[in-house]
Amino acid sequence: MRKQIAAANWKMNGTYQQGEKLLNDILKEEIVLAAHQQVVFAAPFPFLIMANSEVADEPNYFIAAQNCYNKKSGAYTGEVSVDMLESINIKFCVIGHSERREYFNESNAVLAEKINLLLEKNITPIFCCGESLNIREANTQNTYVATQLQESLFHLTAAQMSKVVIAYEPIWAIGTGKTASSAQAQEMHAHLRSVLANQFGKDVANEISILYGGSVKAANAVEIFSQPDVDGGLVGGASLIAEEFVAIIKALK
Ligand code: PGA
Repeated sequence: MRKQIAAANWKMNGTYQQGEKLLNDILKEEIVLAAHQQVVFAAPFPFLIMANSEVADEPNYFIAAQNCYNKKSGAYTGEVSVDMLESINIKFCVIGHSERREYFNESNAVLAEKINLLLEKNITPIFCCGESLNIREANTQNTYVATQLQESLFHLTAAQMSKVVIAYEPIWAIGTGKTASSAQAQEMHAHLRSVLANQFGKDVANEISILYGGSVKAANAVEIFSQPDVDGGLVGGASLIAEEFVAIIKALK
């Protein structure tokens, strides 16, 4: 079975102490994950070492960075390299979140460079894609999202692609309380999988986890995750509340 993943995206929220407490409150539930299930916490950079040590003895629990830089090293004040993440044993990294695309002008080409650096170090990219409201209203979301995949991922080999996780996050559903319906999510996830199948082959496409993101919460997680092409979620707001995220983990297939 494809990996089913509940990924928390804490974004720029909370202090170190609050992050540590949130993680502890979730871990103390001792949810035992099946071999095909994973839980990932995308924590702010200053929390990564602490968070990684908290999950060190928890099978299938991992910590992600929320971003990395697209250059290997050098005079890039304030940036964090993939080598730095590797050196503290980070196994996942969120790439191309819509907030980074919008506020930091991250292009598909820059994201391709980040993907390459991460895969070189065996860090799993969680590659975000998704359309804005005007694109959805013009009904051009399928080609828009396919182009995001094409420009950031199609240079990979099938073997490399099989190590990437995709997160489909319609921008109009992020932090708005407006979730895509489970039918809309399924439709897009099936489309993404067929785009991946055309480029990398059916077997690879069938192995790639495609997460849904955008106002996932305890109350809608079971319904969304139950769709055949939805392999879990990337969760913002609700991941900051322990009991919400615990329920979301339990909603994994
Ligand atoms: P949200 O954020 O769950 O608060 O909508 C999702 C995300 O941006 O990853």
